[in-house]
Amino acid sequence: MYLQRRNRILRSNPSIRSLVAETTLKPSDFIAPLFIDEGENVVFEIPSMPNYFRRSIDGTVKEVKELWSLGIKSILLFVKAADDTKDNTGKESWNPDGLMQRSIKAIKNAVPEMIIMTDVALDPYSSYGHDGIIENGEIVNDPTVEALVKMSLSHAAAGADIVAPSDMMDGRIGAIREALEQHNFTSTGIMAYSAKYASCFYGPFRDALDSAPGFGDKKTYQMDYANRIEAIKETLMDIEEGADIVMIKPAMGYLDIIREIRNAVDVPVSAYHVSGEYAMIKAAVKMGWLNEDKAVLESLTSIKRAGADLIATYFAKDAVKLIS
Ligand code: PBG
Repeated sequence: MYLQRRNRILRSNPSIRSLVAETTLKPSDFIAPLFIDEGENVVFEIPSMPNYFRRSIDGTVKEVKELWSLGIKSILLFVKAADDTKDNTGKESWNPDGLMQRSIKAIKNAVPEMIIMTDVALDPYSSYGHDGIIENGEIVNDPTVEALVKMSLSHAAAGADIVAPSDMMDGRIGAIREALEQHNFTSTGIMAYSAKYASCFYGPFRDALDSAPGFGDKKTYQMDYANRIEAIKETLMDIEEGADIVMIKPAMGYLDIIREIRNAVDVPVSAYHVSGEYAMIKAAVKMGWLNEDKAVLESLTSIKRAGADLIATYFAKDAVKLIS
């Protein structure tokens, strides 16, 4: 048989495959999400996220040191607010001595070079578990944006490098940028969750922070997963309003969106490989149906190949160990 071209030549052994690999993962691609709790020596394994933990500040600082030593350069902080601090205004979220603010300071102090990103949204602080303030059973946009601005300023004051609004209210990026400018936080970045879909794959995360919505769902603010063009609109608007980095969330079911956005914008694009995506792999591995290491590397490589420059993932630490 005569063949002019034999594509298998470039796949014939590991060396040549690595020579022509188009996508490679590196430690600084990853953003490690961390769940923080009050107390001391608290280590709580999240039931629907095996081998992922919520820790008090002391243990979180140790974890951040380890992540740094592995080459991970950024973390994304989430806190579990105490029940008695929750209300409809979310005011605990801008308490200068709140759990988030204390965590930022402790981590900055211990590992100053680690890029600290902070979740900006009301749900962990809301008695209703929603990302906004409720009036007459509705999530009201503009008062919520005012709260998000206060929260962002308090994170910046505590030393956050990048605030990450995950709420999907209209106009919040512009409002936060303007407030940061007015208060002279000219080196604080904004990573906007620009295309955040109303997804069932956030279930395990809501277990982690006890933040499931008390009524209804999040479909009046998070995007409809049927939509693609809308994701571009949202993302371009966030960039216009001042976002430094944009994010698509979840990741694996949204690779088409990641690619579209990577092609459409001139800022770094991140993707959030969310809690349900983590849980699916863990569950299948537990059943003996998937090989964990292979599933993790293939998933994360696909997300990067789709166009993500950065990947927030609960597998960050595992992935770094696998690629080194
Ligand atoms: C809430 C928030 C959520 C996640 C990040 N920020 C949950 C939600 O919108 O209900 C999900 C993360 C994950 O599932 O890993 N502002």
